[in-house]
Amino acid sequence: MPLVSLFGSKGRLVLSALLVCALILELACCQKDAQEQRPTPGRKPKPNTPKPGKSTNKGPRAFTPKPKIKATPATQAQTFLTQVLNKGKFKKVGETISVQTGDTLELRCRGNPVQWSVPSYLDEDDDGRLRTVQHERYGLLTLVNTTGADTGEYTCYPMYCEDTDCRKEYGKAVKVFVFFPDPQELFVPSSDYYEVIQLRTNWPTVLPCQVTSPEAKVTLHREFPPVEVAVDGTEISFNVRKGFTIHRPRPYHAGALYCVASLGNLRQSSTKYMLIYVNYPMAPPAPVIQASSSSVAIGENLRVSCIVLGEQDVAVEFTWEYPGQQIGRPLYTQESIGPVGGGAARQQSQSVLLVDEVRNVDQGTYTCTAQNLQGAKSVSTTVKVVPKAKPKKP
Ligand SMILES: *[C@@H]1O[C@H](CO)[C@@H](O)[C@H](O)[C@H]1NC(C)=O
Repeated sequence: MPLVSLFGSKGRLVLSALLVCALILELACCQKDAQEQRPTPGRKPKPNTPKPGKSTNKGPRAFTPKPKIKATPATQAQTFLTQVLNKGKFKKVGETISVQTGDTLELRCRGNPVQWSVPSYLDEDDDGRLRTVQHERYGLLTLVNTTGADTGEYTCYPMYCEDTDCRKEYGKAVKVFVFFPDPQELFVPSSDYYEVIQLRTNWPTVLPCQVTSPEAKVTLHREFPPVEVAVDGTEISFNVRKGFTIHRPRPYHAGALYCVASLGNLRQSSTKYMLIYVNYPMAPPAPVIQASSSSVAIGENLRVSCIVLGEQDVAVEFTWEYPGQQIGRPLYTQESIGPVGGGAARQQSQSVLLVDEVRNVDQGTYTCTAQNLQGAKSVSTTVKVVPKAKPKKP
């Protein structure tokens, strides 16, 4: 049952005032939890549970402490976020909040223990600005001297523990996307000058041009020819927390693209995205193997074919295993690709293993493995070698 409250604070005085307010908030509005009913010195017993779905975050309010009764835990823990504003006002936050750069981000998440996840750049770049502390009833995340680069998703996971074995309760995670509007940097800075992105057939692709301010107007542009790319919300859509998504990539989406953000008099370009189109199969191949005959006489020729019917322009790679392999029997393969009739964009890829003048060592299992970008599948067939038919005496 996590409760996250957030404060952007500039001074120690304000901060301590806010802490007091946050305490009042917790007392005033939080659900009751049987496990947390143990008395805390210096704290009043917790108030009654507010009605689910109703937020009581309109600031400090009076309440009558109920006599201690055995409380039943709230059936469905409702998680919500509150933002503590200056002057001790509380505001329920939605999916996103904005904190002025330079200010301190303070997130408070109900539970013991809790775990946090922060934008990966903060994880990697341990410069001492980020601190998480576990208190008796809540976890506290503090990020100081914030910049636009800190923009991203902050998540608190309450932990479920049995003895010393703890795991994240993913279903109860609370997330907030925090913008740090930077007056100089409209885009979250990237360490790369350009980024290569694979466009896969029918796989949504994200151009992660992340803005630091939710107010920035963002457009998508192609470098050559220099045009603005139409964003219709269906084929390509924009989300201020994610960037642009190309929902069903097609070859014509490939090329060099970049985003442009404008806010007030500021207009900036993002990192360049080099989009490379890959014909990506929907599924691993499904090969079919067939020998010219399941029983071959010594001295005759054998052909084993392996056929894959698949999407057009999707490369399939064949590999073979065969009985004569260990002794280095030199066999050879012929590979071919051809269209399949019937209109749909499909093709037949085939590999044929040729065994000239079969010997005893060629008896056994022939296995063909077909592989594409989605995976591999093997199929086998067995071939029996029989003695040469005796020529009829004249
Ligand atoms: C935050 O910025 C102040 C003022 O520039 C500096 O003194 C302090 O060391 C910084 N704190 C951290 C943790 O970087």
